Amino acid sequence: MSLIDKLDKTNIPNHVAVIMDGNGRWAEQQGKERFAGHEQGAESVRNVLKAATEVGVKYLTLYAFSTENWSRPKEEVDALMGLLVHSINHETPDLKKNGVRLHAIGDIKGMPEEVQERLNWSINELKDCNRINLVLALSYSSRWEMVDACKKIAEDVKNGTIDVQDIDESFVSSKLTTSEIPDPDLLIRTSGEIRISNFLLWQIAYTELYFTPVLWPDFGRENLIEAIFDYQSRQRRFGKTSQQIKG
Ligand code: FPP
Repeated sequence: MSLIDKLDKTNIPNHVAVIMDGNGRWAEQQGKERFAGHEQGAESVRNVLKAATEVGVKYLTLYAFSTENWSRPKEEVDALMGLLVHSINHETPDLKKNGVRLHAIGDIKGMPEEVQERLNWSINELKDCNRINLVLALSYSSRWEMVDACKKIAEDVKNGTIDVQDIDESFVSSKLTTSEIPDPDLLIRTSGEIRISNFLLWQIAYTELYFTPVLWPDFGRENLIEAIFDYQSRQRRFGKTSQQIKG
């Protein structure tokens, strides 16, 4: 019996988020330039998206470029932007065939014009797809997102759209870049680093965390299924007692 057959089909995480880490180390291990790691990482994106679709995950969010990644050497940033444009152009027809709807979260207006234009094109092409939602976090960081939400809320209070005492958790959620997206059920980080790196800090309040030493370019279908299998062994209590959950 393969691992996929052992999965409980009634307990598939609705939303899986991934911190794709280790592209550079993978390239170094292979004696290649860092870009080769990102290229192989794009291949992992393809494999993991396919597997997630197959098992019935409805949202797959990928941390593709953080606010902090802008500080990398210009040539690496340019290469990553080029890879993004190439991947969007090349993959959009297949994404459409496979029912993948695309979303982008983050400071998208801060992305290069060409990336914005291609993203908007692809998002529009895929707007009627409904098998799985692929969410790309681009120029994203939680602290940026929270500051952005605070500014929007302050404007609303100033304009009299809302009273301060009426601000609640769902109102704050509605001002985040993820307002249309449910919170993740499972967060995976590859490459052995045990940290969150400014990713979805508000949204992962009750998310199950899974850390694996596998480098992102080596992470594939079996690794995703293993992570979901591990997720299924957890009891999610959301602050309640074990007995309350069983009852
Ligand atoms: C982290 O590895 C990875 C990134 C900063 C970029 C992620 C990009 C991709 C997987 C490629 C394409 C993506 C899409 C959506 C087509 P790292 O460079 O920090 O690795 P290191 O920690 O080993 O140096």
